[in-house]
Amino acid sequence: MKTKTYKPSVAFLRQATIKNPEAEYKKAAKDYLKYWESAAKELEWGKPWKKVLDDSKPPFYKWFVGAKGNIVQNAIDRHLANGNKNKVALLWESDSGQHKKFTYAELDQAVCRLANGLKSLGIKKGDRVAIYLQNIPEAAIAMLACAKIGAIHGIVYAGFAAHSLREWIELTEPKLLITQDAGIRRGKRYSMKPTADEAVKGLKCVKNMLVVHHSKIDVPMVKGRDISYHDLVDKMSPKCETEMLDSEDPLFILYNSGTASKPKGMVHVHGGYQVQIHRTFNWVFDVKPNDVFWSTADPGWITGHSYTIYAPLMAGVTTLLFEGVPNYPKPDRIWEIIDKYKVNILYTAPTLLRMLMGEGDQWVKKHSLKSLRILGSVGEPINPAAWKWYYTVVGKKRCPIIDTWWQTETGAHMIVPLPTLPLKPGSATKPFPGIFAEVVDHDGKKVKDGERGLLVITKPWPAMARTFYKAEKYFKETYFKRFPGKYLTLDVAMRDKDGYFWALGRADDVLKIAGHRIGTAEIEAAIAHHPAVMEVAVIGKPHKIKGESAKAFVVLKKGFVGSDEISDGIKKKIRSEMGPVAVTDEIEYINKLPKNRNGKVMRRVLKAKELGQKLEDVVVFD
Ligand code: WTA
Repeated sequence: MKTKTYKPSVAFLRQATIKNPEAEYKKAAKDYLKYWESAAKELEWGKPWKKVLDDSKPPFYKWFVGAKGNIVQNAIDRHLANGNKNKVALLWESDSGQHKKFTYAELDQAVCRLANGLKSLGIKKGDRVAIYLQNIPEAAIAMLACAKIGAIHGIVYAGFAAHSLREWIELTEPKLLITQDAGIRRGKRYSMKPTADEAVKGLKCVKNMLVVHHSKIDVPMVKGRDISYHDLVDKMSPKCETEMLDSEDPLFILYNSGTASKPKGMVHVHGGYQVQIHRTFNWVFDVKPNDVFWSTADPGWITGHSYTIYAPLMAGVTTLLFEGVPNYPKPDRIWEIIDKYKVNILYTAPTLLRMLMGEGDQWVKKHSLKSLRILGSVGEPINPAAWKWYYTVVGKKRCPIIDTWWQTETGAHMIVPLPTLPLKPGSATKPFPGIFAEVVDHDGKKVKDGERGLLVITKPWPAMARTFYKAEKYFKETYFKRFPGKYLTLDVAMRDKDGYFWALGRADDVLKIAGHRIGTAEIEAAIAHHPAVMEVAVIGKPHKIKGESAKAFVVLKKGFVGSDEISDGIKKKIRSEMGPVAVTDEIEYINKLPKNRNGKVMRRVLKAKELGQKLEDVVVFD
């Protein structure tokens, strides 16, 4: 394949920390445990590790065994002593254009107050706390407060509906749910507290609900259960000791869409996770001490956890949270914010870039954008046209495009450029130093360069998810059974002759709709609740802006005939159970679903037909 490569500019190279990426790959490959150990040494710990990796019980690997620490020690505590105390840690811009700032010292106080508040509600180490908040400062504060006392946070994306939130609560059994009265987007309010009320109805585990009165609207508060966030934190002390935890103690459980009809909870831990997000963040974004970093990802997704909140704070830079959407009230809102706060690093998703590209270059050109130094992309393959637009129109050919391939499962970047590497539009380039990947066929044999196959990771890595909450066996079977000793990413990929990897999309039934990870099985489960539906299969179709959209093939029960009314009913069902992101664009009524001899629905057959492709082109993994 002939692709133009883009070399870093002389000016960029001159100021870059890592000038010779190839030397770093080599050094890490020589002794990858030593490499990760040196990354860990950049952090503060309560007690050092006895062993870097315990691989005695694969696939349940342990990193930095015996160490004590806490991610908050590095995200906040150390900045209070190292000169960063009065630096802005968190910048927040509201939907309507107001802003709030928290220095590291102020963030510490806010986190301590809430941590003490959590303790006063009986939350202890190991307890789960569900968080159902929009992109507001309290979301970051809540995460950090949980982490500080060793409680495990579980964030549910604010765009998810009551049914999804309830399923999450049933799985993780949190004592506390933190939510807000209403969210605001595009100038419109949408209520969240009533959704939270519906989600917990009849569930005994949730003893309290903490409500952030963000939109200042009246919401019913249940006596004895519901507490106003400020009523609780305002009376608490701004000092709280950070709990020294075991390196393998869980930090969070995150909603993870896969092929099961119910979401699973990915468990991530304090030790290895902080090491890898810290190292990748610093190297991949070539971070400088006074950087303003903006990741547009919502805290409800893994990117929000790793690179909107934790990693920038660990690096001691300023992270920007934005409540609104990038094209409201005008299509240049995103560019206006970059100039307003002098953002140096922008990290966003291809779906958003395609949308902004469609608004026209004039909106970008109205703004100087000269503070930008690096541009990142995440969540789905970036098509070369969007890549080039990002590079030329937004970055004015000055800023490397950092296409980051990783997953909720991996916790941190895996295949991603070091910014001085020559870049190829559409390729996430090479595995990060200390990460090892291959493209294999169905038997696990390496395919030739230039051929498509399954992407596997061949050695454990520090930030890897440790398991599925309450489903260890399923974790092992999903990722490690097919090729023992190797992690199956469930992505299709190709490696070219230069050793660059091209992630080409999912090999299973997981969709990426506007960058949001949604399992077809979850949408099918919601559709099947419609009284007229007998059977349903959902597939993904390429979509110009969203990357992918969902189409449902529905078999109706006897006596029902497909109509707009039923389609509307089905869409309503999806919206109310899962939320608007999962709503199918198309519904087609058919008489029978294609099935194999075991009665398993063959979505691939539907997909091949729909896209006019040969079956072999669709089948990669079964
Ligand atoms: C896809 C998001 C191509 C991939 C961090 C993966 C990508 C899934 C890229 C994980 C990229 C993510 N290029 N595809 N740069 N980044 N993906 O768990 O299919 O929401 O398996 O994590 O997104 O999605 P998740």
